[in-house]
Amino acid sequence: MQRPPITKYQPYQQIPLSNRCWPDQIIDKAPIWCSVDLRDGNQALAIPMNVEEKLEYFKLLTQIGFKQIEVGFPSASDTEYEFTRRLIEENCIPDDVYIQVLVQAREHLIRKTFESLQGAPRAIVHLYNSTSPIQRKVTFGLTREEIKDIAIQGTALVKELTEKHEGTEILFQYSPESFSDTEIEYSLEVCEAVLHTWEATPEHPIILNLPATVEVAPPNVHADQIEWFCRNMKSRQAAIISLHTHNDQGCGTAATMLGLMAGADRVEGTLFGNGERTGNLDIVTVALNLYAQGVNPDLDFSDLPAVRSIYERITRMEVPERHPYAGDLVFTAFSGSHQDAIKKGMDRRSGYTNQQAQPLWEVPYLLIDPRDIGRNYKAIIRINSQSGKGGVAYVLAEEYGLELPKTMHPEVGEIINQHADALQRELTPQEIYGAFQRIYLENNTPLELVSEDVHRASERGERAEYRCVAEVVYQNEPLTIEGTGNGPINAFVHALEKAGWKNFHLTDFRQHAIGGGSATDSAAYVQLTNENGRAFYGCGIDSNIETAGLKALVSAYNRLQLQE
Ligand code: KIV
Ligand code: ZN
Repeated sequence: MQRPPITKYQPYQQIPLSNRCWPDQIIDKAPIWCSVDLRDGNQALAIPMNVEEKLEYFKLLTQIGFKQIEVGFPSASDTEYEFTRRLIEENCIPDDVYIQVLVQAREHLIRKTFESLQGAPRAIVHLYNSTSPIQRKVTFGLTREEIKDIAIQGTALVKELTEKHEGTEILFQYSPESFSDTEIEYSLEVCEAVLHTWEATPEHPIILNLPATVEVAPPNVHADQIEWFCRNMKSRQAAIISLHTHNDQGCGTAATMLGLMAGADRVEGTLFGNGERTGNLDIVTVALNLYAQGVNPDLDFSDLPAVRSIYERITRMEVPERHPYAGDLVFTAFSGSHQDAIKKGMDRRSGYTNQQAQPLWEVPYLLIDPRDIGRNYKAIIRINSQSGKGGVAYVLAEEYGLELPKTMHPEVGEIINQHADALQRELTPQEIYGAFQRIYLENNTPLELVSEDVHRASERGERAEYRCVAEVVYQNEPLTIEGTGNGPINAFVHALEKAGWKNFHLTDFRQHAIGGGSATDSAAYVQLTNENGRAFYGCGIDSNIETAGLKALVSAYNRLQLQE
């Protein structure tokens, strides 16, 4: 890096905008979306898509709900030309979809582009030329007037060819490339000249696409540019103002959202932000940001993992783990306090199944319901040594159907936490259940329950009396014990007491069925407290609900003896 003073770079230009209105606006409806995956996205791929891949991707875009899709640069290569022809000749374009074709403002390229559109039902011809001082000086060596003239001549030719072109409804789009880095008054001058040449009217508007070809300034400056432009146009009604942001400073999403607040009507971008350098705007993120505010995004991402998988296969790009909405980790919490809060939020919602009558989403740390975009709850909470009791309980509940009593969470959480800390890594749900199994379900010393017979012995007044006869192994010795009580658990406690082994109080007992259907197991949880007031839980699982309860008692008993 250059040592100060830094002479190599200069500050961005402020926009002369007083009383700006955009900070007070909210976005309350979706813009017109235009996907540029097959053009801007494709031209940035190490291995560009072949025709078959483009056809598949085009179909995906129509299924998501895009009504405007830039399909390529037909005058630039045989593949691009052939793809445009295949779309048209094989009737792949749904009735309500416009294909968009990009072309530089050069005569032979414009003519070739029109040839590629023969027979298309609807199309947008997208003309562009660079307008910024750097491009004028470094790339073209042309004056402002000469650059403006290229745009006007190109537009005039597109107009002439449109008038001659039969059978296609043609819309016209113009982009002053590098708009974000162009003197704002000059951009307006060029765009107004183009609008005038096209003879745009409110009934037949032109699309003026104002690209942040390179993101050279923060999003508030982008918003100022858009508001200034919209306010100073002579015929605002005769134009659809379109945004096309790139992400060089990492703010493409913010720039687009502020640009919409500043008055834009339309947004160009790609799925997951694929595109030159740091990428184009990620349309998925902006659309789902709108959804997260209760605005209908008009795009269907209800199976985002499927969209991602097609995208990754065809582009050979990978969506990073922390990419908004789509990344593997974005609905996952490792930290204990986050997990506890998420579990509380999720517990309050359990039971809501009606998609239409949904109460407000109030789950801390989760912006939206992962299920809305085809993701599940399983990976919301993952366990490492940073995790807490709520997280472990969540995993056991989600993956294994075990609804541990709340007062059992700290005990289990600590055991699993120590395990993760010892291994110094994340634990899988299988490893968590494995540890739970070893400690709670398979601990048979000093007492092992071999078999039991519990039956109702008699009715005493209002209350039934149960008798429990159990075959056990106690300190390696097989024995039969028996007792009575007002329930199977109390009968077994009585049997232990009669055998002289009772050194505890029964302080908690709960049970529930695991999963649904008829072939369910039951889980039972028993808490025993010793004379010093220390409490230990046990758990038992069995197809017989009474056996599950006795197993839970034995499990708690053994845990308590081990700590004595
Ligand atoms: O980024 C850009 O300026 C472009 C134009 C061709 C619209 O992709
Ligand atoms: Zn671009």
